[in-house]
Amino acid sequence: MSRPVLRTELCDILNIEYPIMLAGMGVWGMGTPPELVAAVSEAGGCGVLGGSALSPEEVRRRIRRVRQLTDKPFGVDLLLPASLAAASATRSGVREELRRDHPAHVAFMHELLERFDLPPAPVENDIVNSDVYAEAQIQVVLEEEVPIFAAGLGDPARVIPRARKQGMLVIGLAGTVRNAERNRDAGVDIVVCQGTEGGGHTGPIATLPLVAQAVDAVAPVPVVAAGGIVGGRGIAAALTLGAIGVWVGTAFLVSEECALPNVVKDDILAGAASDFRVSQAWTGKTLRAKRNQVTDAWAQSGLEPLPSPHQRVLMEDFLSAAQLADRWDLYMNAAGQGAGSLTERRPAADIMADLVAGTVQALSETPRRVQFAP
Ligand SMILES: Cc1cc2nc3c(=O)[nH]c(=O)nc-3n(C[C@H](O)[C@H](O)[C@H](O)COP(=O)(O)O)c2cc1C
Repeated sequence: MSRPVLRTELCDILNIEYPIMLAGMGVWGMGTPPELVAAVSEAGGCGVLGGSALSPEEVRRRIRRVRQLTDKPFGVDLLLPASLAAASATRSGVREELRRDHPAHVAFMHELLERFDLPPAPVENDIVNSDVYAEAQIQVVLEEEVPIFAAGLGDPARVIPRARKQGMLVIGLAGTVRNAERNRDAGVDIVVCQGTEGGGHTGPIATLPLVAQAVDAVAPVPVVAAGGIVGGRGIAAALTLGAIGVWVGTAFLVSEECALPNVVKDDILAGAASDFRVSQAWTGKTLRAKRNQVTDAWAQSGLEPLPSPHQRVLMEDFLSAAQLADRWDLYMNAAGQGAGSLTERRPAADIMADLVAGTVQALSETPRRVQFAP
C-alpha cells in the first residue's frame, strides 16, 4: 500500500517525510531514549532526544546510538539555564543553601518522606543544570554534528553562531508571543510555540491563541505548534493556524519505546484531561503533570516556590526516594491535557501512522463538513 502524503515547508527544512516532530522530553533521561527518537525518524517524522538531564558523556552515547538505529535526520533538545548565576553550581552547594535559607521547604520535603514512609535516598551525583554543565552538553551536540538543535528554555543566541558554522538548524521553544519574538530576534530557524495544554514546563497561553498570534508576530520565521496535540485533528488545526508542523510530546510518552515504566504510562493513560495540572512543586517553574498526593500537599503547604535549581534539587531528593520505593504514584508524571484522549501503549511507528492518517482524514473531511466560498 502506498504511504499517505502529508507535506509542508517543515519537511523541506528538516528533510523529513511528515511535518511531525517528537518533542524533546528530558525527564531524568527516560522520556526519549534513542530507540524512540530513531523510531519517529524512521517513521518519517523527526525524532528529538531530550538531553537536559543527561551527562555530556551520556548525551554523546545516545546520539551515537540513534545513529546506529537510523540514518534519518534527528535533533537534540537541551534546557539552557537563563538565570542560575546566583546559585551554587553543585547539588551539594544548592542543598547547603536550602538548609541555610529555606528550612521550611526542607521540612516540607522531609515531612513528605515520613508521611509516605519513604527511606531517604538523596540523589548521588553532584550535578545541577548549571551554565558550565549546559555548555558541556552543547559542545557534545556540536562535536557530534547533530543536524538539529532545540533550546527548551533559556536563550539560544549563544549556540547560533557555532551552529551556523556547521549547518546545524536551531529551534527555540516559546510559551508566549514575547518569547517567540525573542527567539526570532536571536536568529533561530524555527520557533516551537507550546501552549499551556502541553506536558512538562508550560506557559500561561493556550495553543490556539499562542500559535495564531506567534505566526503573525514572527513571520517569516516559521512556527511549529505544540501543546495538546495528540491526533490528526489537532495537527490539522495547527496547520490551519499557520504552523508548518507539530511538536508532539505526551502522545509519545505512552509509546512502547519510551523508557518510562509501564506503571507510569498506565497512570497517564488512566487520566482525564482535567487530571493534568500545572504545579510549581516539582521545579519551581510552572510544570504540567498528573495531579497526585504530592502536588496536593504542595498546594496545601502555602509555601512559595523557590527558583530553579533550588526547588528542583529539593524535590529530586524526594523523587529519588519515591522511585527507589517503587512509588510511581508519587512521582512527577509530567504529561499534558491531550492525555485524556490516549487509550493504549503502542509502538511509536503506529502512533506516527495514526497521526498522519488522522491528519489526512481531518483535512479531507473539512470541505465536506464546511461550506465556504470567497
Ligand atoms: C515528560 C515531559 C518532559 C518534558 N521535558 C522537556 C525538556 O526536557 N525540554 C523541552 O524543551 N521540553 C520538554 N517538555 C515539553 C515538550 O517539549 C513539549 O513542548 C510538550 O510535550 C508538548 O505538549 P504535549 O505534551 O501536549 O504534546 C517535556 C514534556 C513532557 C510531557
